[in-house]
Amino acid sequence: MSIYLPPSTRHFEPKWSKMSAWIDHVPFGYDLIEAIRPKLLVELGTHKGVSYFTFCQSIKDHDIDTTCYAVDTWEGDDHATLTEAYAKSDYQMVHRHNQQHYRGFSYLMRMLFSEALKTFADDSIDLLHIDGYHTYEAVTDDFNNWYPKVKPGGIILLHDIVARISSNFGVWKFWEEISDKYDSFAFANGFGLGVIRKPGKSVAKGELLDLMFDSKKAEEKEKLRAFYVHVAKKIDLQRHARFIELTREKSILNRAVDFLKLKKT
Ligand SMILES: C[S@@+](CC[C@H](N)C(=O)[O-])C[C@H]1O[C@@H](n2cnc3c(N)ncnc32)[C@H](O)[C@@H]1O
Repeated sequence: MSIYLPPSTRHFEPKWSKMSAWIDHVPFGYDLIEAIRPKLLVELGTHKGVSYFTFCQSIKDHDIDTTCYAVDTWEGDDHATLTEAYAKSDYQMVHRHNQQHYRGFSYLMRMLFSEALKTFADDSIDLLHIDGYHTYEAVTDDFNNWYPKVKPGGIILLHDIVARISSNFGVWKFWEEISDKYDSFAFANGFGLGVIRKPGKSVAKGELLDLMFDSKKAEEKEKLRAFYVHVAKKIDLQRHARFIELTREKSILNRAVDFLKLKKT
């Protein structure tokens, strides 16, 4: 019997933590990078960088030779409303973190997806993450425009495949239409994450890919889904515990400083 014990359960502490609907998929994103070791990664829709920096951290931790591009106007859309001031500071925050930790292999492209398209050759991208505007029309366009850029056997991630927050969320509908046409796997936790493998010789092999795409046993797929729900919860609890510990240390330190001040007077 083999036991699936990926890197997220062994040595993963997210370096970057911000409010994001992607939070539930962080351990999976970290493990997927290690599993497929992409040469070229493109993300459409980065905002505060939760998904993107998960990928970057895994690339760095596992010493993988990847070039990454994050494409976003950092101006928001109807579903990710950003005021002008926020847009500017969110971009600056992401830019700073990128420069500090991932300079040399990760690049931010502040532009429309349609403008970035011409930068990439057909059949070149090993991992494409689509997380832009979530209407049916927008996600259909993003998928159709970028699909030719993905290598045969490459992986496409689609975020928000179960989200129905407002009436014009439509990734779920698009997912229903396409998931049966490809090797695919769906996480239904959080806002949902869909994984698609473009037909062709796979860019990677390994246990995670076997479990998602090649296992004939529905039970194993269910176990994989449940597994990542637990790992995400564990990482979230660790984050809370660290926060509490830091707050406690800070208050002990403050009390010590107050005590010393008192002694001086
Ligand atoms: C849901 S957010 C991305 C969330 C991010 N992946 C995370 O981990 O939290 C969507 C982003 O896509 C960007 N966006 C939407 N449509 C776009 C387009 N056509 N071109 C460029 N950026 C776009 C918005 O500016 C927004 O920052």
